[in-house]
Amino acid sequence: MFDNQIIERFKQIETPFYYYDLNLLNRTLATVKRLADSYNFHVHYAMKANSNDQLLKVISSYGFGADCVSGGEVLKALETGFDRKHIVFAGVGKSDKEMINALEKDIFCFNCESTQEIEVLNELAKKIDKTAFIAVRINPNVEANTHKYIATGKDENKFGINRIELDAIVDLVKKSSHIRLIGIHFHIGSQIQNLDNFKNLCTRINEIQDWFESKGIPLTEINVGGGLGINYQEPDKEEITDFENYFGIFHQHLQVKPHQRVHFELGRSIVAQCGSLISKVLYIKKGVNKQFAILDAGMNILIRPALYQAYHKIENITSNSSETATYEVVGPICESADFFGKDVSLPITQRGDLIAVRSAGAYGEVMMSLYNLKEQAKSVF
Ligand code: LLP
Repeated sequence: MFDNQIIERFKQIETPFYYYDLNLLNRTLATVKRLADSYNFHVHYAMKANSNDQLLKVISSYGFGADCVSGGEVLKALETGFDRKHIVFAGVGKSDKEMINALEKDIFCFNCESTQEIEVLNELAKKIDKTAFIAVRINPNVEANTHKYIATGKDENKFGINRIELDAIVDLVKKSSHIRLIGIHFHIGSQIQNLDNFKNLCTRINEIQDWFESKGIPLTEINVGGGLGINYQEPDKEEITDFENYFGIFHQHLQVKPHQRVHFELGRSIVAQCGSLISKVLYIKKGVNKQFAILDAGMNILIRPALYQAYHKIENITSNSSETATYEVVGPICESADFFGKDVSLPITQRGDLIAVRSAGAYGEVMMSLYNLKEQAKSVF
């Protein structure tokens, strides 16, 4: 993936840093755009995956909307060229201040996650004489078959409004003078690789739609969320995720009425593969049974392995050795959760070698922390 010219350039840059391949990002975006347009689907980029300004400017230039989960993300979306008419604001815990700011900016839609949130939003909108357009996020109780921390669509999860509350929602919306219900919203989880899960989601959405229709409530917006997984094992074999089959599932199984628009909130599948974390080997240390390669980046820079036991492909991009050895690839942070990979086979690795942790464009830089007050990673394009 990295040619010699780029590796020579990396050698001149202070590590650790996130490297983003804007060419791959553009090719990914062009693919998503072409396929989504062909089905008349509307894509909102889930900013939580990566809110680096440079990437956001590229993404907004394709005319995608933005899926935001905080007041900060709403402001950033507007600053980086997303159209307010295509901004959705989701999240189980929107603060009053965040909702007022979003109302003042006249965003497209609030994805509301509880009856109390709708009551508060109605009050706030009334105070400043605005109407809040909302979609109710419904918990469909559909399995996502992913890591339990990133599964969101089951009864035990905090997300969305439960089916037992739907009657109450309809009554509440009817009496809320400053709320306009325009749609329904779902998101069952992230890094979903088996598309059958999305098929099951479609079946549930169809049932829920029929229910709303039977209550005489017309819905124009159907938002199916995000969650499409990527290939962490072999990033070079699947640089661009299989959007064709993904959109195809919804086209085939979702019953869309002529007056309805279908929305997606894709994060990881858009940005993950264009990013790599580039780090330097500080030390090689022999343990009793293990050998450690200690890098200058740790869980402070990329927390996914520590938090979700996530696999990222690790490559030594400067070693010329034809022999390999097995390493525990770890960071400098003071806990044993601070690792990037266990039993990783690499060419013989030495102090000063550059290591690429691949597929780190999504939920990498955004989840960086100040832990241990280590220096933050910069971004390189
Ligand atoms: N829509 C909603 C309501 C979401 O909660 C999320 C992600 C997305 C869309 C975008 O999902 P994506 O297309 O990126 O799968 N930090 C975790 C992932 C957390 C996902 C949170 N919600 C990780 O590193 O795996």
